[in-house]
Amino acid sequence: MATFAWDFQPKLDRRAVEDLFTLAFIQHQEDLLITGKCGTGKSHILKALVITACAQEWTVRYSRCVDLIDNLYAGLADGSYERRMKSWCRPTFLVIDDVGLGQLKRRDDEPTAAHMLFTLLDRRHAHLTTAITSNIKLSAWGRYLGDATLAAAVLDRLAATSIRIDIDGPSYRQHQAHERAKKHGLELPGEDAS
Ligand SMILES: Nc1ncnc2c1ncn2[C@@H]1O[C@H](COP(=O)(O)OP(=O)(O)OP(=O)(O)O)[C@@H](O)[C@H]1O
Ligand SMILES: [Mg+2]
Repeated sequence: MATFAWDFQPKLDRRAVEDLFTLAFIQHQEDLLITGKCGTGKSHILKALVITACAQEWTVRYSRCVDLIDNLYAGLADGSYERRMKSWCRPTFLVIDDVGLGQLKRRDDEPTAAHMLFTLLDRRHAHLTTAITSNIKLSAWGRYLGDATLAAAVLDRLAATSIRIDIDGPSYRQHQAHERAKKHGLELPGEDAS
């Protein structure tokens, strides 16, 4: 987090984020849900937590949501679904990054992503820590994951045990793009040259 520009996100609760790095939430089997628009630093914070947790020798696994779901779908094809599900259930600290980004598979004759995520979260709930980031509104999870009821059940479990951090602020990527454009005298996409 040494490179994190706190001044860039004045609405972010710095103390709450810095407290996470004690990793007490892992010891207490709490979950973590970080929400905010694109480029606001959600993955940056989670990756820094992953590095800290690895350094303290916790069992950690990091995945983007689409890759986790793709991995489980592959298990449906070759009969290894339950084995794969068990392996996702095992780490003390599981990070599911970028819920809301990327296309999830959807077939009528197969369980939805919501079903898979529900099974995973339900098995881990209250005894192992799961951290999730999302750049879509929680009310949009049902549509994204393919089942409103199961998505609500996932969120219900998270609400019971999770620390919530919302990053309500600008995109650092946009900021970097503006800085680069200024430096090189370039126009940004969508900007009018006239
Ligand atoms: N406050 C900040 N200070 C320094 N670097 C930052 C800050 N916020 C974000 N970044 C950097 O900006 C880039 C985008 O941040 P990040 O990937 O964490 O965004 P995100 O919130 O996960 O976005 P998305 O929803 O698109 O996944 C990364 O390179 C990250 O290191
Ligand atoms: Mg991200």
